[in-house]
Amino acid sequence: MKRIVILISGRGSNMQAILEAKLPVEFAAVISNKAEADGLAIAQQHGIPTAVLSHKGFDSRESFDTALAALIDTYQPDLVVLAGFMRILSAGFVRHYEGRMINIHPSLLPAFTGLNTHARALAEGCKLHGCTVHFVTPELDHGPIIAQAAVPVFDDDTPESLAGRVLVQEHLLYPAVVHWIAEGRVSLENGLVRVRQDRIDPATA
Ligand code: GAR
Repeated sequence: MKRIVILISGRGSNMQAILEAKLPVEFAAVISNKAEADGLAIAQQHGIPTAVLSHKGFDSRESFDTALAALIDTYQPDLVVLAGFMRILSAGFVRHYEGRMINIHPSLLPAFTGLNTHARALAEGCKLHGCTVHFVTPELDHGPIIAQAAVPVFDDDTPESLAGRVLVQEHLLYPAVVHWIAEGRVSLENGLVRVRQDRIDPATA
């Protein structure tokens, strides 16, 4: 069974959706860079080991990322899942987990990288918005896209109402992608997402 480490910084609702999806994986640990992250208690309720490594005591991004990678690697994960982990990652860290680290972003990438995606989608007059799960590469929010889920944008939407509609899809999409990777249906090969049709059971496809 694939070993998974999940990284969070806050609420942890995507982490919770993944933990509760009854996936054929082993959750080795949930790690947060913030001790006050609400998701830590949720992970503990699920019996998952948790750890906190604050970025505050480090004098550079690289030194924190080196310590974080050392911590992650004690759990020997096959896959690192970023679930609202709000840190820009150094190139060395990302290279270390190439093909083994995925992220969820609350927009239809490549539109709206970075923060405040829902307010920006509204300001641009988008009629369609959503979320993206992608392999992580050094350029922020630009890794090869595995899957996206789209939602309509309504005239009376606020950033909060739109965020809520997207979040429902995040909670469906992210566990599904973790499942595909765990079963070897999706992988990163030579920088491209590879989907193995032969691995999809026709009875459940
Ligand atoms: C989610 O909406 C996720 O897509 C977003 O943060 C939220 C975390 O919520 N991630 C990013 O913006 C990454 N750039 P959660 O802690 O409840 O899963």
